[in-house]
Amino acid sequence: MTAELDAAERLGRADLRALQLERLRATLHRVYEKVPYYRAAFDKAGLHPDDCRTLADLARFPFTTKADLRDNYPFGMFAVGRDQVRRIHASSGTTGRPTVVGYTEHDLDVWAQAVARSIRAAGGRPGHVVHVAYGYGLFTGGLGAHYGAERLGCTVVPASGGMTARQVQLIQDFRPEVIMVTPSYMLTLLDEFERQGIDPRSTSLKVGIFGAEPWTEQMRHEIEDRFAIDAVDIYGLSEVIGPGVAQECVETKDGLHIWEDHFYPEVVDPLTGEVLPDGESGELVFTSLTKEAMPVIRYRTRDLTRLLPGTARPAFRRMEKITGRSDDMVILRGVNLFPTQIEEIVLRTAALAPHFQLRLTREGRLDELTVRAEARAEATAVQREEAARAVAAAVKDGIGVSVGVEVVDPGTLERSVGKLRRIVDERPK
Ligand code: DLL
Repeated sequence: MTAELDAAERLGRADLRALQLERLRATLHRVYEKVPYYRAAFDKAGLHPDDCRTLADLARFPFTTKADLRDNYPFGMFAVGRDQVRRIHASSGTTGRPTVVGYTEHDLDVWAQAVARSIRAAGGRPGHVVHVAYGYGLFTGGLGAHYGAERLGCTVVPASGGMTARQVQLIQDFRPEVIMVTPSYMLTLLDEFERQGIDPRSTSLKVGIFGAEPWTEQMRHEIEDRFAIDAVDIYGLSEVIGPGVAQECVETKDGLHIWEDHFYPEVVDPLTGEVLPDGESGELVFTSLTKEAMPVIRYRTRDLTRLLPGTARPAFRRMEKITGRSDDMVILRGVNLFPTQIEEIVLRTAALAPHFQLRLTREGRLDELTVRAEARAEATAVQREEAARAVAAAVKDGIGVSVGVEVVDPGTLERSVGKLRRIVDERPK
């Protein structure tokens, strides 16, 4: 294995830290010179790039938020001339303007390397067939996975999302070892295999690389059992580069190694912005170390996790599987609740399938949450009732709040074709 690692993966921690500081200082200088937004933000904080003498000094610099990117829509955050920008991606943005990101030729090269490294950490090897069912287009998932798999030396099947029956046929005919897809769309594929009478455990697939949305350890077990594959986590976000910011190693499955030679992580208290020591949970923040077209300085991801020491790749810290985004947190009668907590409970309940939705309504002044979960096909009426009671009790005991639970027929809830929306908010605006 060691022989296959690239040079940065073999660095010692001290050498990596030195490389990070050098790259950080260069990035701070570049944005200060090229991006009026950053010059103004640093000036306002009374800071010059030279004030960053150690990695810890980064904490003195201001944060960047999604709102800052929106205010500079579309190209205001670019640090290079438009003629140097080879590609644009954008995140859909459920409200208002999308967030636009740009890449130079070098950025595209770094991205492909980072994803190639991720696929290799997941167990992919040159010569493997990789089925990419992340959406192609402005979303970074499809093209990001695509060029990374090509870079590793794999044969790519650019299936994109949707046309589920055809995806199953492609998997049967082209015999991929690796699939890259959102975990929720993998469940949609599972239904389709079963509908076509094909045993999902009989496919050629060995590894699934799942990300773009939160998923739990319980979901890993569900997918691994049903498909007889290894399921590992890939993380990333458009603002930082796309998929391939961090990747779980198949041999340890213990959280995601952050490719820290390109992306510098901090975890901060989401309310005060104070940097937290490694091991403590908070909001993940990233600073670009090598990005040319659109570096970000202390970008607030809103994703909640904690940093842990490296294991399979000792120089790189790990991040724990993401609990959720601060935006997806439901506050119900003063209690904070994440969809992933409900996922754990639903998947522990034998009579329930891994499909559920959280419906938010308002009765008078009080918000109500109803968990709608699908029964497994074989569950009896009695088992369904028991399951509903068990979920309500587990939420009450484990999270500390009362919710309604409706067990619905198999196949009734909306299926994912990409990123799944778990929360259906029906509260009056
Ligand atoms: O979702 C990039 C990506 C594509 C990652 C394919 C992995 C695989 P965005 O559309 O900008 O980019 O959304 C980024 O998705 O801030 C997280 O909230 C969430 N997310 C991404 N990966 C994970 C993951 C892509 N492994 C946002 N676990 C991020 C939990 C994830 N959430």
